Amino acid sequence: MRPTLAEIYAEVYADRLSDPFFSVQGFEDRLDGQASLPGWEVVLGYAVDQPIGYAYGSRLPQRTGWWSKMLTPLPDDFTDEYGGERTLALFELMVRAPWRKTGAARRIHEELLADRPEERVTLLVEPTHPKVQTLYEEWGYENVGPQQPFPDSPIYATMVRQLR
Ligand SMILES: CC(C)(COP(=O)(O)OP(=O)(O)OC[C@H]1O[C@@H](n2cnc3c(N)ncnc32)[C@H](O)[C@@H]1OP(=O)(O)O)[C@@H](O)C(=O)NCCC(=O)NCCS
Repeated sequence: MRPTLAEIYAEVYADRLSDPFFSVQGFEDRLDGQASLPGWEVVLGYAVDQPIGYAYGSRLPQRTGWWSKMLTPLPDDFTDEYGGERTLALFELMVRAPWRKTGAARRIHEELLADRPEERVTLLVEPTHPKVQTLYEEWGYENVGPQQPFPDSPIYATMVRQLR
C-alpha cells in the first residue's frame, strides 16, 4: 500500500510539497515511525478499482510524547495512557478532490474507528483550516488545545473524540 499512500499524499498536498515538513520524504519518514507503533491500521477507500483516500492511525504507547507537545499542559489524569491502550492517534485523513463532499471521507473515518479497542481518538488539525476543524467538531471531536508535534511542523489544534 505504501506507494498508493504516498501517491495520494503527493496529489492532495501538491501545493505544499516544497516545505520540507510537507514533502513526500517527510510524509514517508513520519509514516515509518507511526506504522511501527502498536495497533497501526489503515482504511483505504476505493471507487471501483481506484483508490480515493484513506485514514490511518496507531495506539499511543504508555510513554507517548503526544501530550507533552501541548503548548498548555493538560491534567495528568487526561494524559495518562494507562497500559498503552487508551487512545487511538489518527495520523492522516485525506480524500482526493473529486471525492470530497460525497461522504467518502466520513465513511473512511468511521470505518477506521469501528471495532477499535481504545476509549478515545485524537487527531491534529491546522487552526488555519477552521472549516476542517468545524467538520471534525460535527463528527464529535472537541479541541483540547494547541500543540507542535515536530520542531518544523505547524502548530495544530489537538482534537479528541470519545469512542465509548
Ligand atoms: C479533510 C477531508 C478528508 C474532508 O473531506 P469531506 O468530508 O469531503 O469535506 P470537505 O472536503 O468538503 O471539507 C470541509 C470543508 O473544509 C475545507 N477544507 C478541506 N480541506 C482543507 C484544507 N486542507 N485547507 C483548507 N480548507 C480545507 C473544504 O473546502 C470545505 O469547506 P467548504 O464547505 O467551504 O468547501 C478533505 O477535505 C481532504 O482530504 N482535505 C485535504 C487533506 C486534509 O486537509 N486533511 C485533514 C488533515 S487534519
